[in-house]
Amino acid sequence: MKERIEALLADVRGLVCKKEQEIEEARVRLLGKKGEITKLFEEFRTVDKEQKRLFGQALNALKQEAAQKIEELKAVAQSGASANGGSKEDLTAPGDDYPLGSRHPVSIAREEIVQIFRKFGYDVAEGPEVEDDWHVFEALNFPPEHPAREMQDTFFVTDNEQKNPILLRTHTSCVQVRCMETMKLPIRVVCPGRVFRNEAISARAHCIFHQVEGLYIDEGVTFADMKQAILLFAREMFGPQTQIRMRPSYFPFTEPSAEVDVSCNICHGKGCNICKGTGWLEILGCGMVDPNVLEASGIDSKKYSGFAFGMGVERIAMLKWQVKDLRHYFENDMRFLKEFETSI
Ligand code: DAH
Repeated sequence: MKERIEALLADVRGLVCKKEQEIEEARVRLLGKKGEITKLFEEFRTVDKEQKRLFGQALNALKQEAAQKIEELKAVAQSGASANGGSKEDLTAPGDDYPLGSRHPVSIAREEIVQIFRKFGYDVAEGPEVEDDWHVFEALNFPPEHPAREMQDTFFVTDNEQKNPILLRTHTSCVQVRCMETMKLPIRVVCPGRVFRNEAISARAHCIFHQVEGLYIDEGVTFADMKQAILLFAREMFGPQTQIRMRPSYFPFTEPSAEVDVSCNICHGKGCNICKGTGWLEILGCGMVDPNVLEASGIDSKKYSGFAFGMGVERIAMLKWQVKDLRHYFENDMRFLKEFETSI
């Protein structure tokens, strides 16, 4: 009996079966009703007492090991791996395919805007998202209580009754103030960044969004220079046929101020539902930096002049890719983000 137990143990340990059917056959051969191990148990009943003591344990161990081996082989077969020579890995299987992520459409648009201005010779500057009232409003010619502050509903971090409260910046125009305070003239800079406004979320507005601010200050900078810079930008961004038009507007920090529209890149001016039949799409606000703003940052407004402009990145991205609802940019729905996989 000893030899048979040992032979079966070697048999169990050497088992290599890959298909579930083969494993089942091995189980029946060993542990089935007429299986070899089952038969040994039957014979065991008839052996004398002394031999029982001798072989009982070994026989039980054999049965246990066989059952365990069968379970292991089944698990391997089910997980699809092959049990080759004790190693559970199939070294010939092809590697796992890890899909690459893609850049967010807002990042793609911001990068494109910044790159266009870099090409025109602009530097890039960033400033803090948590700002003080001076940089966001006061230095930009919004005195306290000025009604223009109502244009931008503000999230305050500290009590807004106190002097120079801390707040979340409502626009990136505050970075132009920091640039005027610290950079050597002439200044030619774009400032991309995230901004915050206390607004209800809808298809056209969000409480968090992105802007790119532009600023050019030198001796003798004129409105014509601004118009040309914006025209060149619009053609790089929306195509060489793009036209622009300027409408008079009001911003406290620029005088004169304008809002700029580009000819609709969908219908090319004929009128469609994207441009609401007008043939034009608004892309940014701009103007000649108000002398008060230059002086507030210590720049001699008799010697220097400049222009500034500010645009919403989500808005530019919506126009470029005809996305009709701003909220898509913030929901991180993979089906939406995957649309931009190739737009690197
Ligand atoms: N800061 C303005 C806004 O958030 C946009 C803007 C308008 C920026 C005119 C400018 C400018 O620099 O000249 O609505």
